[in-house]
Amino acid sequence: MKLVFLGPPGAGKGTIAQQAKEIYHIPHISTGDLFRAAINNETALGKKVKAILASGDLVPDEVTIEMVKERLAEADATNGFILDGFPRTIPQAEALAKIIELDNVINFTISQEQVIRRLSGRRIAKQSGKVYHLVWNPPKVEGICDESGEPLIQRDDDKEGAILNRLEVYEAQTAPLIDYYDKLGKLKNIDASKSVSDVLAETKKVLG
Ligand code: AP5
Repeated sequence: MKLVFLGPPGAGKGTIAQQAKEIYHIPHISTGDLFRAAINNETALGKKVKAILASGDLVPDEVTIEMVKERLAEADATNGFILDGFPRTIPQAEALAKIIELDNVINFTISQEQVIRRLSGRRIAKQSGKVYHLVWNPPKVEGICDESGEPLIQRDDDKEGAILNRLEVYEAQTAPLIDYYDKLGKLKNIDASKSVSDVLAETKKVLG
């Protein structure tokens, strides 16, 4: 199953992908996670994109497309994958179409107000990769990851100025993909404003 999860920042794409990958036995490929790993490991790519991610702008298409091509060529992606956060521009979608045919594009719909509440309350554990929310998905012990025991942190781009920039970038550069995939007959809309279990159930229903 070759899937793209589309939707505004904070819609819950990563949260649903983490569970869907276990159900469908396919890897969850998040371009945001790949960039953050490069930043943490202080690679040449990480140094190049660090300031871009913190601001909420997009990494240039050629850099992102190259990284995704390399990731999709790995053995675990042969039978399918969930691409989360890619494509994010029309040139990225066109580059992807040249290398694979997608089965479905799931578009997670949600209001801007809800996105702001979800992003401003998000806390993450860098080592375990687990994602929490101060209100809707808190850890058992405040500020500590349930799995690894490490302290939780706030992503730089989850601070107010960067959130607003990300929403503008989404509207200008990523939202046009909704129409692009709709015209190709690939798009399935899912109401992402509901609880995690409801959104997951709806995703499973759509994917079969
Ligand atoms: P990326 O990491 O992809 O950020 P994003 O798209 O903005 O998405 P998020 O990870 O912030 O949100 P999400 O939808 O996965 O929500 P989550 O499940 O965490 O990208 C970061 C940056 O990398 C970009 O800004 C850009 O610079 C660069 N980049 C990445 N891809 C690129 C590309 N293709 N081209 C160029 N640059 C690129 O949930 C959010 C919160 O809500 C969590 O706290 C969660 O617990 C909570 N939550 C989730 N679902 C629910 C629910 N149903 N009910 C209540 N709470 C919920």
